[in-house]
Amino acid sequence: MKAITFQDVKQLAFEEVSDPLIEHPTDVIVKVELTAICGSDLHIYRGHETGLDRGTIMGHEFLGQVVEIGTSVHNIKSGDTVVSPFTTNCGQCYYCKIGLTCRCEIGQLYGWVSGGHGLHGAQAEFVKVPMADATLVKVDPTGNKDELLMIGDIFSTGYYAADNGGVNSETSVAVVGAGPVGLMAILGARDLGTKNIYVIDSVSERLAMAEEFGAKPIYLSEMSVDTVRSKTKNRGVDIAIEAVGNPAAARLAYEVVRPGGVISTVGVHTSDKMSFSPVEAYDKNLTYRSGRCPARYYMSKLMQVVNEKRYPLNRIISHHMPLSDGVEAYRIFDQKLDQSMKIMLHP
Ligand SMILES: NC(=O)c1ccc[n+]([C@@H]2O[C@H](COP(=O)([O-])OP(=O)(O)OC[C@H]3O[C@@H](n4cnc5c(N)ncnc54)[C@H](O)[C@@H]3O)[C@@H](O)[C@H]2O)c1
Ligand SMILES: [Zn+2]
Ligand SMILES: [Zn+2]
Repeated sequence: MKAITFQDVKQLAFEEVSDPLIEHPTDVIVKVELTAICGSDLHIYRGHETGLDRGTIMGHEFLGQVVEIGTSVHNIKSGDTVVSPFTTNCGQCYYCKIGLTCRCEIGQLYGWVSGGHGLHGAQAEFVKVPMADATLVKVDPTGNKDELLMIGDIFSTGYYAADNGGVNSETSVAVVGAGPVGLMAILGARDLGTKNIYVIDSVSERLAMAEEFGAKPIYLSEMSVDTVRSKTKNRGVDIAIEAVGNPAAARLAYEVVRPGGVISTVGVHTSDKMSFSPVEAYDKNLTYRSGRCPARYYMSKLMQVVNEKRYPLNRIISHHMPLSDGVEAYRIFDQKLDQSMKIMLHP
């Protein structure tokens, strides 16, 4: 089959690789109909996240049809249209039972093979799904596939960022970063009841989309913090959602949150230092909540939200491209060329 593979920093290939095979009776093979490029793929692409084996198939967002099932798979049938969370989960362990499916004791992240171990990704014609009964979610094959794909990662992650921060109808929120995840966090915050949402970024088309989604846009500058404070009785917001994953954004989240407020961060960080000191955290009575989204936990609920067309999620899709143009798609998304926001790839 054909796939987008990691070769080196900023070097990917669209190449022929071996088809995935059922190895365990709980595996299934999915024929990928739609896959996408996530901001998390960029950390690998840019060389900020290291350790990936050369030849690893990239990507962790996909929707497709089941074409082969292991002998112990019961909930999923051949022909089902499915979406996967970006990590696999067993459904049985302590973490799966408490809803922290992203920390399943035997879960894996798609598109992460290191030292010969791990799970290949989904930017390919076919992908292997381990623990398929617990991992996969069946979706309506006549539904909006672009939007259904998003429940497996960015919609869940944005929603989680708001939920984990404790957003409710009384809270003010600042979203740092209006990429796909930040935009979904705006929708998550709205869904949890607040209309008082600010968003900070430096890309005008993303800010425009944020405004369309109901947030008040603030252009990133040395004035951003003052602007947020001036709109919040000089206090800062109750909840800062950081959806970027770099130290400057983390610092900005710290600056815009009020004393006693919450930073909810979903940006994937690769720095080994915090952007504020223990003293600064103490002096602000800060609560810091972070981490990978337990997407599987949110998917059933968000599938309903998509099916009832509550929000126009697909407005963020800027490009549909064939998988064969995936290498170019990464270049475009990395450099934010051509007003790119979310790129869908079609094998
Ligand atoms: N926690 C999770 O489970 C999870 C899941 C998916 C994605 N992520 C992470 O979420 C982050 C965002 O993903 P994305 O797909 O939206 O990526 P993206 O790269 O498309 O978007 C990031 C946005 O942040 C903006 N930005 C950069 N520096 C900024 C700053 N200092 N202040 C304000 N805005 C700034 C950029 O202009 C861009 O619009 C990434 O770090 C990604 O790895 C985490
Ligand atoms: Zn992702
Ligand atoms: Zn588990």
